[in-house]
Amino acid sequence: MEVIILKNAEKVAATGARLVGELLRVRPAAVLGLATGGTQLALYRQLVERYRINKISFRQVSSFNLDEYLGIAADNPQSYRAYMDREFFDRIDIDKKNTYLPYCEEGQNPILVGPCYEQKIHDAGGIDLQIMGIGANGHIGFNEPSSSLGSRTRVKTLTRQTFKDNSRLFSETEFQPKLAITMGIATIMDARKILLLATGENKAGAVSKMVEGPVSAMCPASVL
Ligand code: GLP
Repeated sequence: MEVIILKNAEKVAATGARLVGELLRVRPAAVLGLATGGTQLALYRQLVERYRINKISFRQVSSFNLDEYLGIAADNPQSYRAYMDREFFDRIDIDKKNTYLPYCEEGQNPILVGPCYEQKIHDAGGIDLQIMGIGANGHIGFNEPSSSLGSRTRVKTLTRQTFKDNSRLFSETEFQPKLAITMGIATIMDARKILLLATGENKAGAVSKMVEGPVSAMCPASVL
């Protein structure tokens, strides 16, 4: 693992965008693992900017998101699908039929979504670069503390802290899901490269545990 410390969030996003650009130059049909959350917004802005000035194209790219809420429709503005369309996919030249999230269709058994998602990733040739953030409790995707380091895509219940952390994004009258489907820790570790972005003081504890602490299921990011 290489730790790159930068002055501010904008520089973190710029470095992330540069690394994505370098990958797409050598591998235009790369498979990207993508993430949602506030941290990634600056990265997506930078990537959209690079696309606009013709520095990169996503035409041949396919993507797999880390996670999706369970129990809200894809067209609900709070879904991660809606976030991805709004912040990234609708602003670049990616073919949206090649963009995947572990979404459970209405009437589908959520337990079957995981294995099916794993298969799709496998069929696409695996993830070249997984981009992600970190939760204040050290979670990656929605792999909350105590998640098995060997876990694969499945349904997870959010911890109280994650639910509270994410409540800032929901209005009082909006339904906030407590369940999600997330790539597992082993699924994430299958990626050929992983780029974790962390910014802001509230992530300092989790970053310190990830980098300096022992490998432990209590800090899922420590597996990196
Ligand atoms: C959510 C996502 C994670 C993300 C985390 C941090 O819980 N499932 O993938 O890393 O939020 O988000 P933020 O960047 O908003 O702090």
